[in-house]
Amino acid sequence: MGYENITVNEEQGLGTIRVNRPDKLNALNIQTVEELHSAFLAFRDNPEVKAIILTGSGDKAFIAGADIGELAKLDKGTGRVYVLKGQEMTKQIENFPKPVIAAVNGFALGGGTEVALACHVRIASDNAKMGQPEVKLGLIPGFGGTQRLVRLVGKGQAMEMILTGTMISAQHALQIGLVNLVVPQAELLPTCQQLAKTMIVNGPLAIKYAIQAVNQGLDKTLDEGLLLEADLFGKACSTEDSKEGTLAFLEKRRANFKGH
Ligand code: COA
Repeated sequence: MGYENITVNEEQGLGTIRVNRPDKLNALNIQTVEELHSAFLAFRDNPEVKAIILTGSGDKAFIAGADIGELAKLDKGTGRVYVLKGQEMTKQIENFPKPVIAAVNGFALGGGTEVALACHVRIASDNAKMGQPEVKLGLIPGFGGTQRLVRLVGKGQAMEMILTGTMISAQHALQIGLVNLVVPQAELLPTCQQLAKTMIVNGPLAIKYAIQAVNQGLDKTLDEGLLLEADLFGKACSTEDSKEGTLAFLEKRRANFKGH
């Protein structure tokens, strides 16, 4: 499928998606949200692709937010529908059955921080700036920022970011746990690729069940979460991959996972 606002490529088991509207600092208009949705679907169904890196084109921006030109036209009804569409895309990323790494290569504001929050891991370049500036526009975060940010960094830090709308540096984002690591910009993609490779040598079904256990468990009580973990552990035990993984350890060789 041809895309206008993103570029997609696949190499050595890694799918890379770049938001590509450099003249708008990779701001997300509705078409871009739809293209991201399609690209993730295609990578989900492509067995060659084992993990995804999501980033922005150029060296200035990851995603500078939702497209403010579009936001300006929304009313009560269309605003709700608009964010539900964005939320659908962020849920798709969050629950993606293969690891998704955000390579935050510059401004990640509003929807940019929210897309990064939906990814499984966030690595930032040292020039990155993150924030939820929606209140400066008289709006609130709408692609999950009020919900995922608080779950990741805690209520106090989330409230500060959301109520001030102030951008924070990559180092500050690291301090509060919003990103996992900060690296010089030239090392951002190689670092993300290396991290992805460390993940994709593992059993793909185990990866999928682990993502499910962590995501679904977060919204449950501890006891319910532990039960979910037990169910998924049982499912993992019934895979050929778990037989291969445990046998390979005992035979002192590298496991050859097939995803069955
Ligand atoms: N929506 C639409 N267009 C955007 C945009 C957004 N979220 N963010 C940046 N752009 C556009 C600018 O309008 C400008 O377009 P133009 O050249 O046609 O005027 C272009 O991208 C470059 O941005 P500019 O503001 O000139 O760059 P800068 O380096 O001076 O500032 C930012 C960078 C990120 C600080 C600034 O663009 C900004 O504050 N953007 C909005 C961020 C925001 O509020 N996002 C949340 C939306 S919910």
